Amino acid sequence: MSDYYWDSKIDYLSKTRWLYYNDDYLEFLIKSVWKITSPVRIIDFGCGYGYLGTKLLPLVPEESTYTGVDFGNKLIDHAEEVFKDTPYKTQFILGDIQEMDFEQNYDIVVCHAFLLHVENPKEILQRMIGCLINGGRIICFEPHWISTMANYYLDGYNTSELVQLGFLQKLFESDMKRSGKDGNIGIKVPVYLSQLGVKQIECRVSDRVNFLDPNSDTLKMDTLYTSLKEDGFGADPGVEETFISNLVQRGASYEEARNEYKVESLVSKVFKNDVFLTYAANLKITTGVIKR
Ligand SMILES: C[S@@+](CC[C@H](N)C(=O)[O-])C[C@H]1O[C@@H](n2cnc3c(N)ncnc32)[C@H](O)[C@@H]1O
Repeated sequence: MSDYYWDSKIDYLSKTRWLYYNDDYLEFLIKSVWKITSPVRIIDFGCGYGYLGTKLLPLVPEESTYTGVDFGNKLIDHAEEVFKDTPYKTQFILGDIQEMDFEQNYDIVVCHAFLLHVENPKEILQRMIGCLINGGRIICFEPHWISTMANYYLDGYNTSELVQLGFLQKLFESDMKRSGKDGNIGIKVPVYLSQLGVKQIECRVSDRVNFLDPNSDTLKMDTLYTSLKEDGFGADPGVEETFISNLVQRGASYEEARNEYKVESLVSKVFKNDVFLTYAANLKITTGVIKR
């Protein structure tokens, strides 16, 4: 059995991606903004089970191809299964992107919630750029955690009781300094791409605002509630001592860690499937064109 972390997260990936974009917005980007009107060869870095392929392939011209690369063998097997009975031309490659060489064979290179998990995002961006033909396009859909955290509203509570923005801002920054992995990478990608020589850079925000509405259909409510929980909101913080010691190791003071425990315990108790909640993930979508 594989011990690779992301191989055990297929359920999480499958239940959460829809919280970020409306399909009409992705269609608008592909057809009206990026104007992809002739067949393209797409490569997806850290493709997981091929989420982006499932969204992009129906929108790009026929004869387009999609290559997904990921380190998780269960994810790759699952991706092959997902596309088995579709008309799309797909290929999945198992491997560690840090160790792989790619040829300049692609019109579009994409990634989704991938760069935040690498210790050297700028080097990986350079590698992504290296896959593209002259005139090719890079598109990065990446999170910006602190803006995600600022985008919850739970009816009946002051948001400041539920989310400690100042503390989290410092925590995300110290995590990034220690590990190189950056949950706020989305907002920095435009800068990094420009520094790497990419042209025509534009950045947008994911469009979907989720609304948990007790006055709506029960099945819809339950599906959304389950996905929001899976995405991390209202998760049980677990044993207090362990929670605090983990945060202290990540650079928090004892007081800050204890306060965060109280806040997360409160959220886990009050976030039920009969509350009014609005939430926008606020990922950043950055694109640019390679001119050689
Ligand atoms: C949060 S998941 C996102 C998966 C997919 N893009 C999605 O949004 O559904 C991050 C993915 O990056 C992959 N990954 C991280 N580092 C990698 C590496 N060095 N080589 C290949 N894949 C990697 C993981 O295996 C995982 O599937």
